[in-house]
Amino acid sequence: MKISQILFSQGFGTRRACAGMVYAGLVSLGGRELDDPDEDLPTEGLVLTVEGKPWPFHGKALVLLHKPAGYECSQKPKHHPSVMTLLPPPLRQRGVQPIGRLDEDTTGLLLLTEDGGLIHKLTSPKHHVPKVYEVGCKHPISNEQVAQLLAGVVLDDDPSPVRAAACERVAELHLRLTLTEGKYHQVKRMLAAVSNRVESLHRSRFGALTIPENLAPGQWMWVDDWALASSTVMPTAQATTP
Ligand code: URA
Repeated sequence: MKISQILFSQGFGTRRACAGMVYAGLVSLGGRELDDPDEDLPTEGLVLTVEGKPWPFHGKALVLLHKPAGYECSQKPKHHPSVMTLLPPPLRQRGVQPIGRLDEDTTGLLLLTEDGGLIHKLTSPKHHVPKVYEVGCKHPISNEQVAQLLAGVVLDDDPSPVRAAACERVAELHLRLTLTEGKYHQVKRMLAAVSNRVESLHRSRFGALTIPENLAPGQWMWVDDWALASSTVMPTAQATTP
């Protein structure tokens, strides 16, 4: 693929702007400054350096963001900045969008992609991708509450009960909840339905993906193994109480 076309596909601007970046000496490969926007390069495993930063070629973008509190997942946020502001301009230009939403005050693992089919697949309740939440509760969690969450609770917008796929009381005020759907404010509403209250919420797992220890809140990384994101392999959590 021509270099200008590669840069365009990665979100670096119009074809003309991308050619301009090459002429301006802003793009290199393996230490060699590229000067011809029409030069053909194989895209497989390609890592360009653009304005001094490595940019691995991705035909479709899938990234994992460690969402901090105080950011909204909406493209048109009302009260707080959008999570999109945490991503570099080329990813925003490519139109990546969150796969499902986390509330403004929820932290943790958020996936974003430009692939509409993947968004549909991973947010569809049919697909049963497990999402694990670390829930800080206001009141001590009782065995009965754990049992109720596993058996199913009815939320105000739907008569069919929603149930946790797994529910583990990690500490008196810390619950680990696995859900396979993603209804609006689902964790908060489920905890309210069992007369408790969410004080803090962190998503620690999506499919088989977890947040690497060195990825600080606000940082993002490429996900190269898409199968991991959509894995339905359940984590080992059981309905246990300490
Ligand atoms: N459930 C909630 O209540 N909020 C979130 O952000 C995610 C799941």
